[in-house]
Amino acid sequence: MRKVFFLFIGLLASHVTIAQVKVQHLMTENLPNPISIDAVAPRFSWQLDGGQARNVMQTAYQIKVTDDAKHTVWAPAKVNSDQSMYIYYQGSPLKSGEKYTWQVKVWDNHGKSSQGTATFRMGLLKADDWKAQWIGPGQEEASRPSPLFRKGFIVNKKVKTAIAYITAHSLYEAHINGKRVGDAYLTPGYTSYNKRIQYQAYDVTNLVQPGANAAGASLGSGWYRGIYGIGTRHEIYGKDIALLMQINITYTDGSTATIATDDTWKTSTGEVRYAEIYMGSTIDARMEQKGWSTAGFNDSNWKNAVIGNYPKDILIATVNEPVKKHETFKAIKLFTTPKGEKVIDFGQNLVGWVKFNVRGKAGDKIVISHAEVLDKEGNFYTDNLRDAKCQNTFILKGEGMETCEPQFTWQGFRYIRIEGYPGDIKPEDFTATAVYSDMPPTGTFACSNPLINQLQHNIQWGQKGNFLDIPTDCPQRDERLGWTGDAQVFSRTATFNMNVHNFFTKWLKDVSLDQFSDGSLPHVIPDAFDNGKPTGGGGSAGWSDATTIIPWNMYLAYGDKQILENQYNSMKAWVGFMKSRSHNNLWNTGSHFGDWLFYTRNDDNDGTAAITSKYLIAQCFYAHSTQLLINAAKVLGKTEDVETYTKLLADIKDAYMREYVTPNGLISSDTQTAYAEALEFDMLPENLRAQAADRLEANIRRYGNHLTTGFLGTPYLCDALSRYGHADAAFRLLLQENYPSWLYPIKMGATTIWERWDGIKPDGTLEVPSMNSYNHYAYGAIGDWMYRTVAGIDTKIEQPGYKGITIKPTVGGKLTDVAANYETPYGKASSHWKIENGNFVLDVVIPANTTATVYVPTKGDSAVTESGKPVTKAADQIDGFTAVNIGSGTYHFSTTN
Ligand code: BGC
Repeated sequence: MRKVFFLFIGLLASHVTIAQVKVQHLMTENLPNPISIDAVAPRFSWQLDGGQARNVMQTAYQIKVTDDAKHTVWAPAKVNSDQSMYIYYQGSPLKSGEKYTWQVKVWDNHGKSSQGTATFRMGLLKADDWKAQWIGPGQEEASRPSPLFRKGFIVNKKVKTAIAYITAHSLYEAHINGKRVGDAYLTPGYTSYNKRIQYQAYDVTNLVQPGANAAGASLGSGWYRGIYGIGTRHEIYGKDIALLMQINITYTDGSTATIATDDTWKTSTGEVRYAEIYMGSTIDARMEQKGWSTAGFNDSNWKNAVIGNYPKDILIATVNEPVKKHETFKAIKLFTTPKGEKVIDFGQNLVGWVKFNVRGKAGDKIVISHAEVLDKEGNFYTDNLRDAKCQNTFILKGEGMETCEPQFTWQGFRYIRIEGYPGDIKPEDFTATAVYSDMPPTGTFACSNPLINQLQHNIQWGQKGNFLDIPTDCPQRDERLGWTGDAQVFSRTATFNMNVHNFFTKWLKDVSLDQFSDGSLPHVIPDAFDNGKPTGGGGSAGWSDATTIIPWNMYLAYGDKQILENQYNSMKAWVGFMKSRSHNNLWNTGSHFGDWLFYTRNDDNDGTAAITSKYLIAQCFYAHSTQLLINAAKVLGKTEDVETYTKLLADIKDAYMREYVTPNGLISSDTQTAYAEALEFDMLPENLRAQAADRLEANIRRYGNHLTTGFLGTPYLCDALSRYGHADAAFRLLLQENYPSWLYPIKMGATTIWERWDGIKPDGTLEVPSMNSYNHYAYGAIGDWMYRTVAGIDTKIEQPGYKGITIKPTVGGKLTDVAANYETPYGKASSHWKIENGNFVLDVVIPANTTATVYVPTKGDSAVTESGKPVTKAADQIDGFTAVNIGSGTYHFSTTN
């Protein structure tokens, strides 16, 4: 056997200083100091900072948990282990609403130790912890203005803590004493509302005051009862609009008080006259009830709220990071279009809304419309928004400078059209704010080719624009739905750019809850089409596979076994569905989206359209999902399932070979998607794989080094090529600047990923308005290949969550400098390679408490050095790489020719 790795950890360790290890980044259920945890056994995680030292590993840890009265509730013995992620609490039962402090002491392999402290508070664990009652406006709501609710209360003792628990049917914004509670938007977020509704907890200790106080909230129709789900569907989850709010106050003398919604709360309406996700909002400042959430406000002409008998046993604490405001953009240009319209360009296609300051007369009406692109003539273009109006209307009250900001809606746009503006428009008065789930950023990718850097920018903005509490297909037209196929296609890339652990944990729960009883998955999650009734269809190959692909991707990225445990039955049910619809394990039934939006020329007379049989694709995904189920069963120790599904997988592949592949290895759909999936899902026997890769490469050349794949082939294309020795072809695709390619939209000025390869055609005309989003992340799935193959940062599958790291750069595409940084669950990993004077140079960072194998590309007689010292001889190369095992720290490798 050939010797692959060289262990010289000891050698490297000898020349560095040993610094103090530091424990940091303490998380409870992946959140820093959370204040509403539902999990009865929350999990603790932390990171180690090894400073300048190399090879820092944790050797032991000890945890202690105390309650607010400083009583110990869990104090297990020191554990000799390097585990620093997901350690389950196992002490005495944790109490609803209680705050706890946990400490961890860690020891490392250099004889150092460090201690850290964090806190967490439990959520309201039982339905009867809610003293609040659901309340609604109880009145005719002709045009559905946003209802306001308020209640005065007295605080006559010193407050130790005040925690507000709030949720709504559908969106709320809460206030205490005239101040906004928290900085989250579009709360309580979107879940399968008929099965579970999130509430948020806020520490409002600093908002309550001695003496008279007031609490209140305004509501919007949102996902719950608004217009949503393609076209003008509405009231998917109910007609009612309702608030549930409770403030639990603990005084310093130990006594408590609860302020809770009931029919003594008062209700009215204010300036938000209309608000819909797709349509936008109408704000009439003349109707503002100034100071409505302050104690001194006179609510004598407000009505009493009406109690609604809605369930409280479906309330859950919030798992994912809430939606918040992020980047702001100033106008880069104000101009008049050929049609004579006043338009502002913000320079970036973003998702959020525009706020502006204006002076005018009472009754002046300003309408702000939104667009992603201008048409060929340079006019403001909104046809692709379909039935979504995306207009915010503001009616001024005429009292000096007014600030206009929409409510309970969002838009996807780069341009706004301004109508009815009093006086001259001053672009500096307008600000666009990006709004998305507050996921911590985790990755950067930059290289020597500015077009690729723009591609990375566009991928990240596709993610920012579409990770708005749920993963949406697009953020602008009358969809904005949790399309399952799009989400699975992009899920691995998403893990690199931002920490999507909690984001997908929450969404996957809705996947399993909304999955149909036959095991198929509705096309969108939450199921806005069917609401539990299997009428809108589901079970499309590549879409329903979100059930298996996303949990597995999350497991790889975060090493979190619980995701697999939670999703296992759902994964199994999906495989069961495909089996039940197959004949002799050939799945050739049902309706499928196929390789959605694959390359097809408008005037395709000579058969260049790259059509891949839908059933062939279905068979590939049947195999792939079965493989992922086997993987999950192995991780979870379900040996019987491993056996059963391994046998099934062999049958599925046999059926595929019989039906679709000639003995010579020609696949009946001779397309890039067919070969990429065959290779990536290991559909072919070993002896036919290399020739399949060659056929794929030849196919790409036939199309003049262009890709022809749609949603289901694109994520696998470059990986299949580089895995089978055709990295050069993968780079040719990546660097292709003509349609169809990743860089073509960039040459056409794109700042996000488009739904179609030719959203704007080479002649400047636009694709059909019925299906043409300029912010659809699916094709951004190439980001995964850029991080994992070009920069070469990956997790070892057997040590998921980057406990074991691989750094294996791929040189090509005339790139001379590639740098990727990635915040793994253990801390920062980085791979930065350069070609300097013809030599390959690689700087690597590996976080403490992990190990890595670095593959330095070497050829011929080149030798590798690390920080100037030789680490190996040319003879020790394998497959064009010299492999080196290392521990944590920073390293500088170079090769000399
Ligand atoms: C969405 C997609 C989705 C598709 C299903 C479209 O309307 O925008 O991205 O996956 O329908 O084919």
